[in-house]
Amino acid sequence: MTTLTSYEQYQQRINKFLATKLEELTINDPTLLEAMRYGLLIGGKRMRPYLAYITGEAVSADLNDIDAIAGALECIHAYSLLHDDLPAMDDDDLRRGQPTCHKAYDEATAILAGDALQTLAFDILANHLFSTNESASTPPIQVSLIQQLVNASGYQGMCGGQALDLAATDKDIPLCELEVLHSLKTGALLKASVLMPAMCSKQVTREHKNILAEYAQFIGLAYQVQDDIIDLTSTEEELGKPVGSDLAANKSTYPALLGLQGAQDKAENLLQQALQALTRLPYNTQSLADFATFIVKRSY
Ligand code: IPE
Ligand code: IPE
Ligand code: MG
Ligand code: MG
Ligand code: MG
Repeated sequence: MTTLTSYEQYQQRINKFLATKLEELTINDPTLLEAMRYGLLIGGKRMRPYLAYITGEAVSADLNDIDAIAGALECIHAYSLLHDDLPAMDDDDLRRGQPTCHKAYDEATAILAGDALQTLAFDILANHLFSTNESASTPPIQVSLIQQLVNASGYQGMCGGQALDLAATDKDIPLCELEVLHSLKTGALLKASVLMPAMCSKQVTREHKNILAEYAQFIGLAYQVQDDIIDLTSTEEELGKPVGSDLAANKSTYPALLGLQGAQDKAENLLQQALQALTRLPYNTQSLADFATFIVKRSY
């Protein structure tokens, strides 16, 4: 298995950042705050924060700027998981090795914890003091970052993809539609994990940004293809979530459409395209290459 450089270090860093953000909140409803902590801080690979940190490193962005981006991305991701597991969506009982939030608390609390984590993401970005804010004539960087995160997480991104996922349940859809669905529900946030850090660096030209977007598009899609594969091939113990969940729910997935080998070939193909894109960048992209390899080789 490919080792990810500085993975533990960045994991600890983002966990501390997120824990502090929750500690700073005024306690209105202790149960809701506890459910937010449960959904955000217990377990999770922190892949979106990690990707943001290593992109930031590659383009020499300020590490403190990336904290806010990584924190906002993980809040959106955690909220998406709380809602994804609800009975109205995937109806799953286990997440990150624990009972899902609506099982540990109740459905209303899980919905509200998701909602509050979503707004926390924008709170973090709006109130962070970014080092890249310089000129008074251009809109503050917060505005551009928020626009990017809105696109990645809302109707044009994750939420839109989740709706397509539900609509494609119990149906056969063509491969091109599955690609759009996956690119939106999972790919969009991973793409933002690359493009938002890139916005915090003066080194990144338009051309570099396009290449980074290409890389992110390939790995974003690959992330969900591999998620579909490990739903079939991993164990509940290793995954920390139920296996065979997609089959049981009759979801449209890559293995369902192409067979397991076909899905594995697709993931490998996306990996090669991602690696190819990186060769056109003038930065040290070793960590980004390792990340791409890791996500298609992972078994959890
Ligand atoms: C699971 O994401 C849901 C998808 C979008 C594929 P992760 O596999 O990143 O889940 P955690 O954060 O590690 O629990
Ligand atoms: C989830 O896809 C994508 C999200 C936006 C949360 P899945 O439904 O396949 O994710 P898991 O397998 O439950 O983690
Ligand atoms: Mg789902
Ligand atoms: Mg699910
Ligand atoms: Mg899945």
